[in-house]
Amino acid sequence: MIKLKNVTKKFGEIIAVNDLSFEILRGEIFGLLGKNGAGKTTTIKMLTLQLNPTAGHIFFEDKLPQGNEIAIKNLIGIVPQHLNFDQDLTVYENLELHARLYHLPKNLRQKKIDELLNFVELEKVKNSFVKSLSGGMKRRLLIIRALIHEPKILFLDEPTVALDPQVRRKIWELIQNLKSQGITIILTTHYIEEAEFLCDRVAIMNVGKLVALDTTKNLCNGKSLEEIFIQLTN
Ligand SMILES: Nc1ncnc2c1ncn2[C@@H]1O[C@H](COP(=O)(O)OP(=O)(O)O)[C@@H](O)[C@H]1O
Ligand SMILES: [Mg+2]
Repeated sequence: MIKLKNVTKKFGEIIAVNDLSFEILRGEIFGLLGKNGAGKTTTIKMLTLQLNPTAGHIFFEDKLPQGNEIAIKNLIGIVPQHLNFDQDLTVYENLELHARLYHLPKNLRQKKIDELLNFVELEKVKNSFVKSLSGGMKRRLLIIRALIHEPKILFLDEPTVALDPQVRRKIWELIQNLKSQGITIILTTHYIEEAEFLCDRVAIMNVGKLVALDTTKNLCNGKSLEEIFIQLTN
């Protein structure tokens, strides 16, 4: 579905992503695992056309992004690492704003927003200001905002960072539910157990480089994923 070929990103002297090549398959939950600073967010930003690679190519269904930007932006949904709502708008207003950006017609906007609020049990806070929500509610809202235009590929950058274990489980359920709807999911995390629980395949990055890529089962081969991770990222 998405193919990276020798993708590198430099910020001045810093090589944030170093010669990445791999493929993301339709319908899978693909995990990008790595310590802070490994290059996960930079990779996601290139895969979502927010940053251009310094070198290498990214193919979306065998096409390069140049000339296909609008089609690709409609294909993908982005859940960023950092909350970027307008905190002084209500939940509904934030979703409405996003729906307008994707040119959804008015009747469809309302229907879709209500359906998504219902899906993550946020209908009660529909008219509350975002700043009044709990951390878990904000994360759920961030996820459904990315789903308004019905993307086929969803990128989640550290979707459960700083959440309580109970709330984290809820987000995991939500992600599994999206997979069962046929959405391809790319997820970054530095929580090993999150990758182990959710991902079909895991890529481990260390200082910008890909150091492993396989199913969790094949990667572990009797050891724990945590052991493997520590070995490969020391
Ligand atoms: N805009 C930027 N300018 C300069 N350096 C950056 C920028 N974005 C990321 N970096 C650097 O690139 C490296 C990878 O960062 P990042 O992709 O955010 O890692 P991760 O998401 O895995 O924590 C880090 O060394 C970071 O400091
Ligand atoms: Mg990051």
